[in-house]
Order: sequence, then structure tokens, then C-alpha cells
Amino acid sequence: MSSVRGEFSSRFGFIMAAAGSAVGLGNIWGFPTQTASNGGAAFVFVYLILAFCLAYPAFMAELVIGRHGQANAVTALRKIAPTQPKFAFAVGFGGIICAALILSFYAIVAGWMLSATLAPIATVTDLKATADWLNQQSLGRDLLFTALFIMLTIAIISKGVENGIEKWSKRLMPALLGILFLLIAYVLTQEGATQGLRAYLVPDFSQVFNPDLLVSALGQAFFSLSLGTSVMIIYGSYIAKNENLVSLGAYVTLIDVFIAFTAGLLIIPAMYVAQAQGVEIFSANGTLLSEDTLVFQVLPALFNSMGTIGLVVAFAFFALMSIAALTSSISMLEAPVSYTVENFGMNRLQATWLIGGVIAVVSFVIVFNFSSLFGFVIALTTQFGQPLIGMFCCIFAGWMWHRHKLLAEIQAGFEGVEHSLFWKIWPWYIKFICPLAIALVFFNSL
Ligand code: PHE
Repeated sequence: MSSVRGEFSSRFGFIMAAAGSAVGLGNIWGFPTQTASNGGAAFVFVYLILAFCLAYPAFMAELVIGRHGQANAVTALRKIAPTQPKFAFAVGFGGIICAALILSFYAIVAGWMLSATLAPIATVTDLKATADWLNQQSLGRDLLFTALFIMLTIAIISKGVENGIEKWSKRLMPALLGILFLLIAYVLTQEGATQGLRAYLVPDFSQVFNPDLLVSALGQAFFSLSLGTSVMIIYGSYIAKNENLVSLGAYVTLIDVFIAFTAGLLIIPAMYVAQAQGVEIFSANGTLLSEDTLVFQVLPALFNSMGTIGLVVAFAFFALMSIAALTSSISMLEAPVSYTVENFGMNRLQATWLIGGVIAVVSFVIVFNFSSLFGFVIALTTQFGQPLIGMFCCIFAGWMWHRHKLLAEIQAGFEGVEHSLFWKIWPWYIKFICPLAIALVFFNSL
């Protein structure tokens, strides 16, 4: 069985795939929105600290567990704690279900992005009725584009690790960066942009210890690094034994944080540019008027006010969102697919279609019961599932594993790790600080 297991063929391939999973709607939509509604630069400041000091160590725990296990999350956790097979199953399977449920709502939002990418094309080609249909939320439109997005995800995952995940991440991630920089260059030349930059970059330090801000920032960091979903365990399992995990994980974290930060350089100034053009964004006391509708009302209003070039910018922006979503959604589908393939011996193509199909059905149920289910599934997965499972992964690595075995796994590919700062503090982190901090934030959010 193990000889047919996929593996990333290069460091670059792994970095693009894991960064592709991490960089998604959470970075380009979630982070700027949270920043705008949590007092601007103070949130950015706290986020940066938490991302590096708490999320990165927790991320490393998942990568190490995966690389050691060379298997899906359930099997990998069982290898660490052979005397606790039920506990390992609960955490590993819980993560897999969490990934599948996240995909079920993520695909709906990504479907909106796809239809918004096509709308400017319909306008340019004079298909007015089609453009209106694409721009207007309807059951038919949402079902169609959710299904389409899940099918794209299935198409990539059915091809496996090297020819699917790695190949497409290597193409899509650089494209995403290119579009992002072009859009920033454009927005920063517009009137109002400097005011936006100031709000984004000059922190109000009195806000930094606001508990709501801390909770939002940690939640955002967890979502952004795809933690607590078993995704990073499975991606870790595809890393060769001679690679340096510590630096690979650090690259991925840096890219993830960098893209969130850069997306803020686009979205926050864009909000002020839109305001300078008469679009209402902030209320009189400076709070964000429409948190949920930033992407679908504020930005389209801005694009509209630009005339014809606005169509090009809108197309580029929503293509960027769709690409970011796709490299994340493939990682969510890989979690249950790898488990099914390895555990039940099913072939990858069948497993991918079967699980993709089930997730599509769940998405449809959410679309039909949008007002009651959409927010519920998001809260269930991102506020409960991810922190809890992420915390248990730290507990597995910190408490249930022999310290010298943990050390041996990190040592493979990292000569002299015993002398590094990482080694001196990281084991304490995953043993005490990460689980405690996560538990604190978790109970706070209850
Ligand atoms: N990290 C992704 C984003 O920021 C979302 C994600 C969550 C991906 C969980 C995989 C697993 O959009």
C-alpha cells in the first residue's frame, strides 16, 4: 500500500500546495474584513504576533504528526498513541469531518466568486440578461455555481498528489500573486488610498488588549493556516523524510501572513477610495457599515464607478478570489479522500467522486436552508471544531508522544536542530502554551 502513496516531488511543490491551502478566502476576504471591523492596525499587530507565536507552533505539530505517520490523520495519530486508538480516531476523524463541513459552506461562497468572475465577461459581450442573472443572488445560480466549484475541486483531487494538488498549486499560486499586485498598484493610485493606508498601518495601541480583538485574531489565524482540520496532517504526510520541516512550515506561515497582509493593502485602501467616490462604507462613528457585504456591495460599487476599466478590475479581482478558494478547497477534499482511499482500499477516482458528491449534497441542503444553516455550519466548524481539534493535535504531539521520537522526526532533514532556538522552545509551546491559549480563547468565545 505504502509504495503507491503520493509525495510532493519538490520543496517548491509542497510550499505552493500548503500555502495554497492556507491562502484562501480567509486571507483575502476574512482578514481585511476583520481588520476593518476591529479597529484597523491594532488588529493587524495582534494578528501578526498570534500567527507566529501560537498558530505556527500548532501548525508545526500537525505537520510533524503527518510526516511521522506517512498516512491519513486517523492512522497518523494512532501511530503516535497506539494505546489510545479511540481517542486518535475521534480527533483524526473529527478533523476530517470538520474539513468536509468547511468545504460545504466554502464551496457556496466560492461559487459566488465564480459567478462574479463571469459577470463582467457577460457584460462585455453584451449578454445583459446573463450578466443580470449572474449578479443577482438566486437559488438556481447558487446551486449551479456551487456544483461547478465542487466539480473543479474533484477534477484536481482525482488526479492525486503530484499531478493534481502540486501541479495546480504551482500554477495557480503565482497567478494569484500577480493579480493581487496589479490590483494594489491600481488602487493605490486612486484618490483616498493614502487615508486607507494610514488606517491600516498606524495602530491604536489602546485596542491591543481588547479581548474581542484577541479572540477574533486567534480564530482568524487558525482558520487561515487551515489548522484543526487534519489538512496539514495529510499534507505533512506527503513530505519526504529528508526535508527540513521547521523551515518548510516557516515558509508557509510567512507566505500566508504576507498574503493576508498584502490583501489588506488592497481592500482597506479600496474601501477609502470607494468612500471618496461617494459609496457609503463607514457609519458616523467610524465603524464598518456592512461587514458581510464588503466584497459584494462595497467593491462592486467601486468597480462600477470606474466605468469600463472597472469591468476588467472586477474580473481580475473575482478571478483572484476564485483561485485562492480553489487551492484551499482541494486541501479540504484531500482530507476525507485520503482517509477513504487508505482505510477502505477504494480507488482514488471513485473515492473523490463519492465524497465530493456527498459534500455537494450537504452544500445544497445549506443553500436551500441558507438563513438557518449557513451561519450555523461556519460557527460549528471555525469556532468549535478547529480550535478543539487543533488543541488536541498539540496534546498528541506534546503529551502522548515520546519526546525523543518527536525529536527524531524533527531531526530528519534538519541537522543540528538540538542547538536551534526552535528546539529549545517549541516542545514547551505545544505542551503547555498552545493548548492553554487555545482553551482560553475557546472558552472566551463560548
Ligand atoms: N485557510 C483557508 C483560508 O484561509 C481555509 C481553510 C480552512 C482551508 C480549513 C483548509 C482547511 O481560506
